[in-house]
Amino acid sequence: MTQPKWTLLIHGGAGSMVRGKLSAEQDEGARAGLSTALDAGSAVLAHSGSAMDAVSAAVMALEDDAHFNAGHGAVFTYKGINELDAAIMDGKTRGAGAVTGARYTRNPVLLARAVMEHSPHVMLSREGADEFSREQGLDQVDPDYFATPERWRQLEELKAKKLGWYDIDMKYGTVGAVAVDNDGNVAAATSTGGLTGKRWGRIGDSPVIGAGNYADNRACAVSATGAGEFFIRLGVAHEICARMRMLGDDAKAAADHVIGELEELGGTGGVIVTAPDGTATFSFNTPGMYRGRATSAGEKYVAIYGDE
Ligand code: GLY
Repeated sequence: MTQPKWTLLIHGGAGSMVRGKLSAEQDEGARAGLSTALDAGSAVLAHSGSAMDAVSAAVMALEDDAHFNAGHGAVFTYKGINELDAAIMDGKTRGAGAVTGARYTRNPVLLARAVMEHSPHVMLSREGADEFSREQGLDQVDPDYFATPERWRQLEELKAKKLGWYDIDMKYGTVGAVAVDNDGNVAAATSTGGLTGKRWGRIGDSPVIGAGNYADNRACAVSATGAGEFFIRLGVAHEICARMRMLGDDAKAAADHVIGELEELGGTGGVIVTAPDGTATFSFNTPGMYRGRATSAGEKYVAIYGDE
């Protein structure tokens, strides 16, 4: 089968979404948000832009949409603030940038990219990341910009029910994008507010290069969503790329194998994967995953539930 010249995959989080459980507004709003993000990334790739620019554009659109747990609409920490994590990686150079606990940058994915492109470092945290963001001239917002009544309600619910650290409903709202461009370069970007009620400066997999985000032109690009601690323990994103590079697995086999290992450890979540030859796949062990795909062949697909 001839592979498309460019491919873009996105996700808006994996979780317990089953038909009839989401309100019509949640279902339609999330689909519209995924569609907007696909359009933003596709516009870049259709004009021969880079995979890096495409994943940046797609993730920015998802960060701007309150249906997803990243940027505007991020979940609250136990102390009732928003602490934002993001990462980006270029498969051509294996350059990478990440931030954790950022509080003022409108689009954390752009801060991660600035770390990669304008600092000698890979990961910056908290006040230092915020300071670097201001120095880079990135768009700053009042922290209230990120807050929404629905996320506050979820925090109150978690505290009232004395739930465990993982949302009992398995609603992981991390967002991400992977792409292969016309030149065969892959890139991955991921952004999240983390877990509702997170404490003690907890950091999940999204900003950890190799866990929730990885890109390598020799293999693939991966963005993950789910219970971050399990993804860190398995180095999920790097592990999928390593299986493709060293064992010769195709993207689907590698992703399914590693998500299977995650499940054996008790983890839940999913990944999106694309390879330089244009192949692209989703793998998740939750009932649903907000997801979408667009290609140079004109395909545009948006889905939520596992059976779509
Ligand atoms: N997967 C996002 C997190 O665990 O923070």
